[in-house]
Amino acid sequence: MKISIIGVGYVGLPTGLVLASFGNEVYFVDVDKDKINKLRKGKNPFQEPSLGGLLEKNIRDKLVNFTDQYSVAIPKSEVIFICVGTPPKITGEVDLRYVKAALEELSKYLNKKSTTIVVKSTVPVGTAKVLKKSLVKTGRQNVSIVSNPEFLREGKAVRDTLLPDRIVIGVDDQKSEKVLLGLYEPIIKQNFNNIIEERLSKEVPVVLTSNESAELIKYAANAFLTTKISFINEIANIAENVGADINEISKGIGLDPRIGEHFLNAGMGWGGSCFPKDTRALHQIAGSTGYLPVLLKSVIEVNNAQRYRFLQKIVKALHEEVEGKIIGVLGLAFKAGTDDVRESAGIEIVKELVDLGAKVRVYDPMALENAKRVLKDNGDIIFCSSPHDAAKGADALVISTEWDQFKQLDWRPFKRYLKKPLIIDGRNLFNPSFIRKMGFRYISVGRK
Ligand code: UDX
Repeated sequence: MKISIIGVGYVGLPTGLVLASFGNEVYFVDVDKDKINKLRKGKNPFQEPSLGGLLEKNIRDKLVNFTDQYSVAIPKSEVIFICVGTPPKITGEVDLRYVKAALEELSKYLNKKSTTIVVKSTVPVGTAKVLKKSLVKTGRQNVSIVSNPEFLREGKAVRDTLLPDRIVIGVDDQKSEKVLLGLYEPIIKQNFNNIIEERLSKEVPVVLTSNESAELIKYAANAFLTTKISFINEIANIAENVGADINEISKGIGLDPRIGEHFLNAGMGWGGSCFPKDTRALHQIAGSTGYLPVLLKSVIEVNNAQRYRFLQKIVKALHEEVEGKIIGVLGLAFKAGTDDVRESAGIEIVKELVDLGAKVRVYDPMALENAKRVLKDNGDIIFCSSPHDAAKGADALVISTEWDQFKQLDWRPFKRYLKKPLIIDGRNLFNPSFIRKMGFRYISVGRK
């Protein structure tokens, strides 16, 4: 099939490249000319396993085209995926301007045949119907809108696209339903060539729904996960007060299959490009319908408080004297395996420490460049090339991202680098007795 992908971001690029690898001809459209030029030359803008190789292979096989012109891509396309960003407004409301602009632009170039428009961007419930109405108004009757939310995680984009837990297709006409089932067949049947070695042992379940349900499934999935994390963080705070260990509790409850072992890591709260935005958006969407989402409100509040609580741990460990102190911070990405620093707990902590008058020595294996862009350096932040360098002369070392690299370090020499052997771990990377035996003062989350 001939496909257009509007918006070549974390969702659009892996989705389009995977569909191209199944033999479809894919046009990638983005307003960012620089990105388009780089992609044409085979330069992958994202740090994602397998993505660079997939891009090169598809370019070699002449299955992908990159353009900033809708007029080049849309007239040829039978299916158009909208994968543009839906950032939050200051009120938490979803800003649909990029989705609307994409629709307006593409509607100028639709061909006379019937076209399927697939909304992958996370959009408020009711958006598909609104988009459909606006197309009908301008005389485009033979277009159907499918709501097909995306659940891929950063750092695992290709893997999650090929091995999803489920595919959700929200649509009210059978023709487009068939088109989508056909496009996704290699994934559903787990029948694709060697992009990755792994395969699921059974077919991928497809959930066919209305547009509205599909739109709400995406928000509900993310909100459930943030609820789980806020829950375990709340229990961690209780555990601290009663002398229990949150890692033992996560294991003890997670083995119950009704609870499940995943997403029970206590720490500094959830961040990233999706969780904060989508949880706040659902809260706002509920409010706009006249429903007060009491639970969601608390989930957000617990998360905000968790970061502040962690900052307080650092302040307390330094006996309330942060001004003039040197603090090493390991981890600026919002989670391990990505260079993304959006709504990252590490970045927030660095900003707070600088505001309190500290000098901060920061290190991250992937995210230093992105961090440099968001952290205005006025001499208080030193970007270091190794964890060892970040620790040198510091009064304390803070761990804010759960990189394996940090777990695997030989920690013994760090006692020499640090002015004081103090580690404050926001990700519970170590067994407290193991690290204390080395002579460190060790403070973590939800544990003695
Ligand atoms: C998330 C969803 O997982 C994905 O399905 C959706 O499509 C996009 O949002 P992502 O943002 O890539 O994916 O990150 P994820 O791995 O889910 O982690 C999100 C945040 O939660 C990170 O800040 C992480 O550190 C935090 N987290 C996760 C915890 O604090 N504890 C946990 O147990 C799990």
